[in-house]
Amino acid sequence: MTPLVLGIDVGTSACKSVLMTPDGELVDTVEASYPLSTPRPGWAEQAPALWWDAVQRSVADMLARTEAGDRVVGIGLSGQMHGLVALDEADTVLRPALLWCDQRGAEESAVLIESLGGTDRLLDYTNNPMLPGFTGSKLLWLARHEPDVLARTRRFLNPKDFIRLKLTGEYATDVSDASGTGFFDVRKRCWSDDLIARAGLAREIFPTAFESSEPTGGLRADVAQHWGMTPGVPVSAGGGDSVIQTTSMGVVAPGMTGITLGTAGIVGGSSNECPDNPGGRLQVSCGNAADRWHVMGVTLNAGGAFQWLIDALRPLAGDGLDYDRLIELAASAPVGSEHLIFAPHLMGERCPEVAPGARGAWVGLTRAHDISHMTRSVIEGAIMNMRAILDLFEEAGLGTERLRVSGGATNSPFWLQTLADVTGHPLATVSGAATGGAAGAALVAGLGAGFWADIDEATAHVAELESLLPHAERARRYNEIYPAHKSLLAQLAPCYQQLAAIEDRTA
Ligand code: XUL
Repeated sequence: MTPLVLGIDVGTSACKSVLMTPDGELVDTVEASYPLSTPRPGWAEQAPALWWDAVQRSVADMLARTEAGDRVVGIGLSGQMHGLVALDEADTVLRPALLWCDQRGAEESAVLIESLGGTDRLLDYTNNPMLPGFTGSKLLWLARHEPDVLARTRRFLNPKDFIRLKLTGEYATDVSDASGTGFFDVRKRCWSDDLIARAGLAREIFPTAFESSEPTGGLRADVAQHWGMTPGVPVSAGGGDSVIQTTSMGVVAPGMTGITLGTAGIVGGSSNECPDNPGGRLQVSCGNAADRWHVMGVTLNAGGAFQWLIDALRPLAGDGLDYDRLIELAASAPVGSEHLIFAPHLMGERCPEVAPGARGAWVGLTRAHDISHMTRSVIEGAIMNMRAILDLFEEAGLGTERLRVSGGATNSPFWLQTLADVTGHPLATVSGAATGGAAGAALVAGLGAGFWADIDEATAHVAELESLLPHAERARRYNEIYPAHKSLLAQLAPCYQQLAAIEDRTA
């Protein structure tokens, strides 16, 4: 019987799980969704119990369907990065988790950076910015706004690591997720005890960080029984979703760039040594193997902006409106949406600029526009933002010629072609693309289980499926429009400041 590994990805809108063979073939996949709550503009929360419930149910279904539980020899975890789950002495979740796209820690991160003497001094500790959405900013927000919660916090975990606790009873994380807390020295691949002390946080609440394929504990007997698995199956450390998704595309060496179109949009590359991060404009993470590092720029609003549009229209359109229908509408509008441009910053923004107070906006609306233009402009706006991140990559000397793409939106030929046309780059889709986080988690579990010798061998089976070229005329039109998109964030900033002042007064 072929052995299998199980990869579980705790995403923002759903958890996805896969079963993978030593040939890298996906035997089965399963998905279970859950809602996101935004109690205030710029805030985003989820109850960790939703993730655990979705993981338990969907993995049980998949293993019952495939009758493969007893063949699983390793489990790997991937998850939305930067989330904060605060646990007390008895592992009770003290408040809803604050998510990666939650911007409430903006002031606290700014205060920390200033107290250190600026971003360059912060980079000395970690080689990373302390973005408002990083777990570290959230811990500092708790310290100021919910000190009683922080006082009762015995451990904090990232989302996938909360699932690990449920699976194994262990408090652990991996080096790539740890990098996204802002308190991890990515050069040395360990917590920055000095920065933690400077920030006034208790070192004991930080979980132990392991390399991605290292075992962090064995599957608990009760969970194993529920899933029809063998108790004690090792659970590998895994990785933060954006990092491990890029790994799952086979982007594990310099010269290739991975783009992920999920709720967030990620441009990621790999390096064999820890790259410099001038000005902290990009995020640097430890990679999913001990000799790799990962660089990325992340927009908070890619597929998530389109999902917002679907949700906003659903009450009007009822059952007749779904994803495919909206894509059809978008495709029926002309390139550039008749000069209607959409700023996709519905959850504030992180890259190409740190702008936690930014908002979404349509600019250029006229009576000539209808819902087809509005829909197309949302997709174009999200991708224009990703082009601006690619510009940052080019400025940093990171190659962008060969692009591989993955993520849920890659199921749509329209999104893919628009990505090629707006960026002007040829693209290749890869096998396992839509389940990248879970597939990456399975890969590191397979490494832990001895399926492969190293990360290069583990990813060697990743195949390029479809190649797309930019359409010359559409690319030319997008080049004309791009400068207007690129300057939108800066031009709208004063307006967002006014709105924020009103929000603060009325909160
Ligand atoms: C990465 C990031 C997002 C989340 C959610 O820095 O913030 O990609 O991990 O997917």
